[in-house]
Amino acid sequence: MNGNDAGLIITPIQANEVTMGHSYKHIISKIGQEPFYTNKDGTCTLFKGDCLNIMDSIPAESINMIFADPPYFLSNGGMSCHAGRRVCVNKGDWDKSKGIEETHKFNMEWLRRCQNILTKDGTIWVSGTAHIIYSIGFAMQQLGFKILNDIAWYKINPPPNLSCRYFTHATETVLWAAKNKNSHHYFNYPLMRKMNNNKQMQSLWSITAPKPDEKIFGKHPTQKPIALLERIILASTKAHDIVLDPFTGSSTTGVAAYRLGRYFIGIDNNKEFLDLSIKRLNYEQRGKHNVKEEIKSVEKAIERVAAV
Ligand SMILES: C[S@@+](CC[C@H](N)C(=O)[O-])C[C@H]1O[C@@H](n2cnc3c(N)ncnc32)[C@H](O)[C@@H]1O
Repeated sequence: MNGNDAGLIITPIQANEVTMGHSYKHIISKIGQEPFYTNKDGTCTLFKGDCLNIMDSIPAESINMIFADPPYFLSNGGMSCHAGRRVCVNKGDWDKSKGIEETHKFNMEWLRRCQNILTKDGTIWVSGTAHIIYSIGFAMQQLGFKILNDIAWYKINPPPNLSCRYFTHATETVLWAAKNKNSHHYFNYPLMRKMNNNKQMQSLWSITAPKPDEKIFGKHPTQKPIALLERIILASTKAHDIVLDPFTGSSTTGVAAYRLGRYFIGIDNNKEFLDLSIKRLNYEQRGKHNVKEEIKSVEKAIERVAAV
């Protein structure tokens, strides 16, 4: 296995590079509205709007991988525990349920569009709790996706259950599916094995909730950990592939995609969350440029010492 096979070589990407016949720039130009944000490298683009409308204008078979963390529709006045205190679980109006039939209809609609824009060997990952994951799984079966794995993401240190009438909720499910039964999906088996001490990686992933340094610009109420997205991207994409997140929130997927040298398209209909995404994505670029500056200054210092 060389570094590229592992999808680990992180080379700078050119915004006009062609991926599966569709250049990233071409895909962006087909979306019938101005991006809300493009990073300096031209490799991460955010759109503000309803993901159903925006996905309608993305060319068919152009996206290599989709990660979706849709509304779980669980904000209906329940209680949870945060930092030792009893808090209401309401995440916002976008997360209020309109009933199970409406939820399933919505899941069918966005999943249908995801299936259309995935390349023939492309894959989709969808996270969820019991509130929606059965609807997602059923919709995938109805649409003819090929379900590859149901990952149990174990959160290691979940908040306690205050009512003491249930087990502590400690897991989320992440379904991984290929476009259809004819797909030859990509799986970076050697890398996953290597990351797991040279043993086959299982479908139980122990990853803590986002760390404080992932929330320095503010937090999204349902923010995912970067480590989860990094593993997903490394497992199922090659360097320079195009990754899309239709419910991007604070763009955890974008941050991980940028770090790993993949192109990224993120969609959200909430300006506040997109503003948070921009701060996080800009910070990633600054971080990268700072590293370059630091290397330069160390090189200059070495030259100065050598000259004495
Ligand atoms: C569960 S959160 C995603 C959080 C994200 N994974 C993160 O790490 O920050 C779902 C997001 O979907 C957005 N959303 C809900 N309905 C939408 C729609 N129809 N189109 C686009 N975005 C939508 C919400 O604003 C919210 O930010």
